[in-house]
Amino acid sequence: MKLYNPTPVTSAVSFAGLIERIEILRSTLRWSSRLERPDIEKLLKQATTLRDEVMGLSHKERFVAAASAAGEAEVEEAVVEPVEMSARERRQALMERSFIFEGTFGDNPKLLEALEIAEKAAPTDLPVLIDGESGTGKELMAKVIHANGLRNDKPFISVNCGAIPDSLLESELFGHKKGAFTGAANDRRGKFESAHTGTIFLDEIGELPLTGQVKLLRVLEAHEIQRVGSDEVIAVDTRIVAATNKDLRRMSQEGTFREDLFYRLSVIHVTLPALRERRDEIPLLVAYFGDEAAGQLKRRPLKLTPRLRDFLLHYEYPGNIRELRNLMYRLSCLAGDTADFVHLPQDIRPRPAGLQAVAAAGGKATVTDLSTATSLSEAKRAASDEAERAFLERGLQEVGGTVAELARRFDMNRSHIQMLLKKHGIHSKDFRNNRQADGK
Ligand SMILES: Nc1ncnc2c1ncn2[C@@H]1O[C@H](COP(=O)(O)OP(=O)(O)OP(=O)(O)O)[C@@H](O)[C@H]1O
Ligand SMILES: [Mg+2]
Repeated sequence: MKLYNPTPVTSAVSFAGLIERIEILRSTLRWSSRLERPDIEKLLKQATTLRDEVMGLSHKERFVAAASAAGEAEVEEAVVEPVEMSARERRQALMERSFIFEGTFGDNPKLLEALEIAEKAAPTDLPVLIDGESGTGKELMAKVIHANGLRNDKPFISVNCGAIPDSLLESELFGHKKGAFTGAANDRRGKFESAHTGTIFLDEIGELPLTGQVKLLRVLEAHEIQRVGSDEVIAVDTRIVAATNKDLRRMSQEGTFREDLFYRLSVIHVTLPALRERRDEIPLLVAYFGDEAAGQLKRRPLKLTPRLRDFLLHYEYPGNIRELRNLMYRLSCLAGDTADFVHLPQDIRPRPAGLQAVAAAGGKATVTDLSTATSLSEAKRAASDEAERAFLERGLQEVGGTVAELARRFDMNRSHIQMLLKKHGIHSKDFRNNRQADGK
């Protein structure tokens, strides 16, 4: 049986396509009635092994490579001809130099550049500032830097500067002496001491209040701290990696972040790209996280309806990779065999085509749009319409798209339900696969 074309696969999309084909093969085999069960099991096992191999290959291929051998490239060459190396060659070079970045996906040029900078910065003690939108992998990158550094067997201590109340920040970072303030019942060491000889990751550094910024500057300059309420000076040897989703340069120009601290923290500055800047990688990420979720949830890999796949490939992902990953876990958890719009969170779920058409029809609309309601009564009617639609979708989901069963379950007239479905542009057949897969 020919499962796939053995020509080397080079692009993310091809990998995703290949994995999809293997998934189709696996599900076809699973339900095949012509083969004996042992043969089905055998072929399924082979397909699973092949899938795992492709995932492994995809993982390895995509996430490593490099500009030129570290330090060997002339600066001029790197500046003048950076585009000469393909993403594949850059990854390959990183891999050959044993740079560890397990779990960091992508061959977007900006991401590769960030990885190449991280590779060079990792074995030094220079402070690194990582910026990027929420969910772009800043913490992951901080861990990559730590893992590839000389301190990798020492502690990696993470502090979320945005989550600590101002009054506790100093004690949290530098520790306190017993009795230093109300509630300080014992001596306590802070995060900097815990991270001694290792790395401290200062997350959301842009949230650090100005008083904390002054203290931090002192640690960076003198490599020593003082616990709150103590005169004793303690030397700390800690590598600092900071992250932010704010524009610290602008903040320092505006006076909300100390400029001297900004320059000290950003000796090495790494910027991670938003997912919308690397859209071509979305298919692979959908396949990868779908697979990862299936593994974790111990279920069959999820299938997506064409319209949901299309949505996932074109969605903006304001929460970046974290949002995509969470979405795939959510879909895998909530859907049966096949996921559809109904399994998306309500706030990002596209409105059914019929409903949009009705809304677009202006005055003739039988369904009112809550976001454009111009009076209280219209808003009430819109809210009622939305509740009606959600009720119908959930009901259809539960009964696997069978209108007759829905009518029985809720003691409603079948033709009334049909009329409501038409009003909302809902197609009961869109809900049919789910029930079969749920095994309800
Ligand atoms: N390049 C990547 N490849 C694979 N997974 C990634 C990548 N970047 C991020 N992730 C995953 O996305 C999730 C969010 O990553 P992370 O916590 O590092 O983001 P962040 O930038 O620190 O987010 P926030 O600003 O919200 O704290 C994690 O589950 C992480 O493993
Ligand atoms: Mg983070």
